[in-house]
Amino acid sequence: MKRLDAIGGSKFRVPASTRIIAIANQKGGVGKTTTAVNIAAALAQGGLNVLVVDDDPQGNASTALGARRDENVATLYDVLVGNVTMRDAMQPTEKLENLFVVPSSINLSLVDVELADQDDRMTRLRDTLREGLAATAAEGAPFDYVFIDCPPSMSLLPINALIAAKEVLIPVQTEYYALEGLTQLLHTIEGASASHNPELRVSTILLTMSSKNTNLSAEVAENVRDYFPEQTLETEIPRSVRIAESPSYGETVITFAPRSSGAIAYLAAAHELANRAE
Ligand SMILES: Nc1ncnc2c1ncn2[C@@H]1O[C@H](COP(=O)(O)OP(=O)(O)OP(=O)(O)O)[C@@H](O)[C@H]1O
Ligand SMILES: [Mg+2]
Repeated sequence: MKRLDAIGGSKFRVPASTRIIAIANQKGGVGKTTTAVNIAAALAQGGLNVLVVDDDPQGNASTALGARRDENVATLYDVLVGNVTMRDAMQPTEKLENLFVVPSSINLSLVDVELADQDDRMTRLRDTLREGLAATAAEGAPFDYVFIDCPPSMSLLPINALIAAKEVLIPVQTEYYALEGLTQLLHTIEGASASHNPELRVSTILLTMSSKNTNLSAEVAENVRDYFPEQTLETEIPRSVRIAESPSYGETVITFAPRSSGAIAYLAAAHELANRAE
């Protein structure tokens, strides 16, 4: 386990205040959810209090974290339409005691329509999350990190996430079209920032599903690093069978296959993220 020692073992620096990070890219299947749950799990395993908000009607983060999802379970939909508080919708995960999730449900896809007439439709996630974080802090267990897993769209749900967050983490898959959607994404982020959230910044870019064996993957990675030298983490997440199969066991790769290359890469990415100024 030399590499684990080299990246600092399993302890993480505690941020001065809660870091709220939206994981966004309107391009589908680039590793948003995988990144959200695995970085969250790595930080939680290192002792930090971590919350994942599943802001995608697909509910992949909820599945990957083994969330309870029977019909009585409070979900993000219930929170956004005002039926329950964010605090009430937080549930502990089975595998890691410091890791919590606000699960999604398919009816989350209705909020675009159901909230269309509401003046506060873009700030509901921010406001309910603030309340939820204040409630957990008052209980003596403040969250160190919140990750908001966005859907592959630029609808009301990701806009809410960009307004609720302080930082954006963009996963970029190292493939030919990777950079094409980024300009549009950066525009959307600027829009959310200008209208509601001046302090929002793209703090982190993570290269995902990279492959050492193809020139193309390396070329794309180099391009992204040229455009975003400050933001791009040194760690790249390799393609890994263990990463892909762990959600089907309701687990992150961090607990499912802790010694696999994928788990070690996500642990290293979590360390880089934690060591950067918030
Ligand atoms: N490093 C990796 N190695 C192998 N498979 C991966 C890796 N990262 C993600 N995958 C797989 O690729 C698929 C897409 O990943 P993921 O669901 O994280 O992307 P996403 O951006 O959240 O997708 P969506 O836009 O649909 O929400 C999933 O099946 C996932 O298991
Ligand atoms: Mg996803």
